[in-house]
Amino acid sequence: MSEFEYTSAAAPIYTRLADELCLLIGNGQLRPGERLPSVRRLSRQKKVSATTAIAALRSLETRGLVEARPQSGYFVRARGAQSEEPAMTRPPAAAKTVGVDNLMVRMIDAALNPDIAPLGTAAPDPAWFPVRRLQRIIASTVRRHPELLVTCCPYYAGLDTLRHQVARHYAALGCVVAQDEVVITNGCTEALNLALNAVAAPGDTIAIESPCYYGFLQIIEKRGLKALEIATHPRDGLSVDALQNALVSRAGRSVKACLVSPNFSNPMGATMPEGEKRRLVALCEQHGIALIEDDVYADLQHNGPRPLSAKAFDRSGNVMLCSSFTKTLAPGARVGWIFGGRYAEDIRLRKFALSGATPAILQEALAEMLRTGGYERHMLKLRRGYAAQVARMAAAVSEYFPAGTRITQPAGGFVIWLELPGKIDTLALFEKAIVEGVNFAPGPLFSASGRYGNYLRLNCGRMWTPGIERALMRLGQLVKAELAAA
Ligand SMILES: Cc1ncc(COP(=O)(O)O)c(C=O)c1O
Repeated sequence: MSEFEYTSAAAPIYTRLADELCLLIGNGQLRPGERLPSVRRLSRQKKVSATTAIAALRSLETRGLVEARPQSGYFVRARGAQSEEPAMTRPPAAAKTVGVDNLMVRMIDAALNPDIAPLGTAAPDPAWFPVRRLQRIIASTVRRHPELLVTCCPYYAGLDTLRHQVARHYAALGCVVAQDEVVITNGCTEALNLALNAVAAPGDTIAIESPCYYGFLQIIEKRGLKALEIATHPRDGLSVDALQNALVSRAGRSVKACLVSPNFSNPMGATMPEGEKRRLVALCEQHGIALIEDDVYADLQHNGPRPLSAKAFDRSGNVMLCSSFTKTLAPGARVGWIFGGRYAEDIRLRKFALSGATPAILQEALAEMLRTGGYERHMLKLRRGYAAQVARMAAAVSEYFPAGTRITQPAGGFVIWLELPGKIDTLALFEKAIVEGVNFAPGPLFSASGRYGNYLRLNCGRMWTPGIERALMRLGQLVKAELAAA
């Protein structure tokens, strides 16, 4: 077994208690300077022994989240300069052809090696997912609907049961779409390809966040499109003002669509405020360009209500929303969806031309998970888990990385984006880290213009194990060594 693999034995009670407290600190319910419950209170409230409560508090101290004050107890530590967020980005004004293939392949190859710490791809730990329940539901679906295995699939837009459940899920979130508008896809990636196919031809330009998910860049590259990077804030996401300016510039004239993740973007974890989402929808409509919304992380808020999708503000059908179950319920199922808006009819036909259909058995089983409330129950746990993991990784980075490292503070999802101090080249760092058994995503992977040389993204989706902690410590040492050598 790899040292990065999680087993329940790796999470004793004190660790779980520390995670709970970590979450309260991470989401601001326990603020800097505030006193934590005493050992006696913790052990009474949580029904654990005093030894367990002490171990949990000490573990938070080791992670740098709290400090012990003599005779007074434990207090949340003030966030130091290390935890500051990176600044608003300043991408170039011209559209670029894209080329991120090689680097992406190297990172994905490293992700397949069990001896390398899996901090590179944004892949959640398999241990988060309700495997037994999925097994049962899939087995019973096969029993109840054997015809789905042996009928040549006429459902190229997807099974009505899943289309209905997905539309219902969004309606409950204030985003009303007709079931007819929904097309089930092979993951979010196929949905994104369909959306771009519907509105852009080779040579056209797509406006994107900078930095953005490298998958966007890859699709843009493979379709012969160009990318126009738009300034993006680490907390508030794509700058609508910057997009507005870009659209009236020379480079903006060939923009056919804006591709954006308004909720918990990758790699920054940023979320656009509601008013900005509304403005974005209106701006795209006004300029006659399509808005393609990647919603794949949107159900993963760490706290409070789920933020609205930009699609919720769409009155004209100009927004296409793309998403999947990859980050939430069943990464291996490769089931996603697109709401095609005014392009829905065209997208249905394109889906048929592109891949015929999506495997029906899995669609039916996932529809059942939604229908029976299994999805929501699972999500309650998953959100808490991801939130604790993000807080924990950020705390470890503050502890092990050099002073001056800036870290994003995402309110959802499970990636963090780091700006390293000095002139550290994360491409060179990547080569050294792989040799040392640590994977991460170097910053230039997220830019069409090779920006973000001193940035990197960390996957916080893995469960905490001593191996993960050692990997972070080692990466911090490598960064410090690079800094000293510069
Ligand atoms: C923003 C974003 N969109 C889409 C995907 C891929 O989704 P899927 O695996 O469902 O194709 C990812 C995966 O990392 C992602 O980060």
